[in-house]
Amino acid sequence: YCLKVSTREGEPPLINGWIPYIGKALEFGQDANRFLDKHKRKFGDIFTVQMAGKYMTFVMDPLLFPNIIKHGRQLDFHEFSNKVAPMTFGYPPTNSGKFPHMQEQISRSFQLLQGDNLTVLTESMMGNLMLLLRQDYLGEGAGREGCWRKSRMYEFCNSLMFEATFLTMYGRPVTAPRHSGTSDLREDFARFDSMFPLLIAQIPIGLLRRTKTIRQKLINYFLPHRMSCWSHTSQFIKRRSEVLEQYDTLRDTDKAAHHFAILWASVGNTIPACFWSMYYLVSHPEALEVVRQEIHDVLKLSEVEFSSDRDVTLSREQLDKLLFLESAINESLRLSSASMNIRVVQEDFSLRLNAERSVAVRKGDIIALYPQSMHMDPEIYEEPQTFRLDRYIQDGREKTDFFKDGQKLKYYLMPFGSGSSMCPGRYFAINEIKQFLCMMLLYFDLQLEAGQSRATLDSSRAGLGILLPAQDVSFRYRLRAV
Ligand code: HEM
Repeated sequence: YCLKVSTREGEPPLINGWIPYIGKALEFGQDANRFLDKHKRKFGDIFTVQMAGKYMTFVMDPLLFPNIIKHGRQLDFHEFSNKVAPMTFGYPPTNSGKFPHMQEQISRSFQLLQGDNLTVLTESMMGNLMLLLRQDYLGEGAGREGCWRKSRMYEFCNSLMFEATFLTMYGRPVTAPRHSGTSDLREDFARFDSMFPLLIAQIPIGLLRRTKTIRQKLINYFLPHRMSCWSHTSQFIKRRSEVLEQYDTLRDTDKAAHHFAILWASVGNTIPACFWSMYYLVSHPEALEVVRQEIHDVLKLSEVEFSSDRDVTLSREQLDKLLFLESAINESLRLSSASMNIRVVQEDFSLRLNAERSVAVRKGDIIALYPQSMHMDPEIYEEPQTFRLDRYIQDGREKTDFFKDGQKLKYYLMPFGSGSSMCPGRYFAINEIKQFLCMMLLYFDLQLEAGQSRATLDSSRAGLGILLPAQDVSFRYRLRAV
């Protein structure tokens, strides 16, 4: 890969940094949003930054996003993900020619997270959440009416959502309703997850010795002989197992590593997203009351009167009616997501950005969109740092009109990526966050413990998805008198 010393005609401004090879990677890693903002002010909407030996061209103006997103052929997403994901999760690259048609079959399996299958998944998630809530939080001795219990909010979301999602995706042991050892699995997962940014940056896992051991332990959880003892497995995971079975050259540990990657995809962002949605609601009690009322109203429409001694079920249709809840979740995603959308340039060409503008790009360059800076743009979102419950509601419907420079934006909220790399689990994710919050609001009174500073974002995984809180938050809950 040749070093760009200067730009060719038509290329965006190039920022190299002082340290050869590393370029601006360190500065970017410290605070990506501020870094990009600073360079945008100096160089304009489009500039190229040399980072860790790669040239990344950032397109900062969201009005230009549609043209980047629709350039599927010349700007490829999979070239990047096919390289990074196998190294991170420990399976052989799927597009190496050794596994014909695997990539297509895997992509096709994503349909099983949507459509009719979403209804089944959503029902299964509801049952699992209810099971855990009953056994761990509503059972004997737990949070009796009138009696406050204390907890840490991230910890709480993590414990409930990790296990409920796991049961929904992978099923349960044939002989028991829950897996033993889930809390060990969760702890190992958290250790792996804390190294995730280094792995994605392609630091060889051999250098992170303990991480390699932990990863292997996590992978072993999904070995075929173990999974064959599970029942109630989702169609999505069953289908993936069938696809993997077709390839003799895959070892059992490789198959297990594929399943482990899906575990990461299904909880890695959902849990922090649950945390932020719960945190913003609990720290805005008037918003929380609006949402709680909305949930009761939707239940009443179906002539269900909520009572804490009965299990609650909320169907997919009922969840779809929860406009304020959805707005609260979207607003929380806006405030906490820092994913980067990446495309690899397939050939030297002139990339048309709009009617007047094009830029020259070279084969192998990376084009990056960084939606966080759009999510935090005061021109698009008034008082962008403030949580507003009704940010995404207008005239009793979902609001989709957001403007920049007087023009309506096609893309204004991008926590799930875009175009060909859009998250296939997005509908399920929103549903499960809704289900979790419905249960919290229906069963419990919730309060933040007094005297804490506000939760802030830990930006160490900027670029990779929903950010974690820099520190956990204490809250208390008690069973509501209904
Ligand atoms: C991919 C976000 C939940 C499955 C992605 C990507 C993003 C994302 C941004 C694209 C990555 C890229 O462009 O490089 C989120 C967020 C979630 C969430 C914010 C929760 C709030 C889920 C869930 C599942 C899931 C619950 C599965 C049950 C996947 C898969 C991919 C993916 C399989 C890879 C798709 C591919 O290779 O084309 N997600 N996700 N996600 N997500 Fe999600």
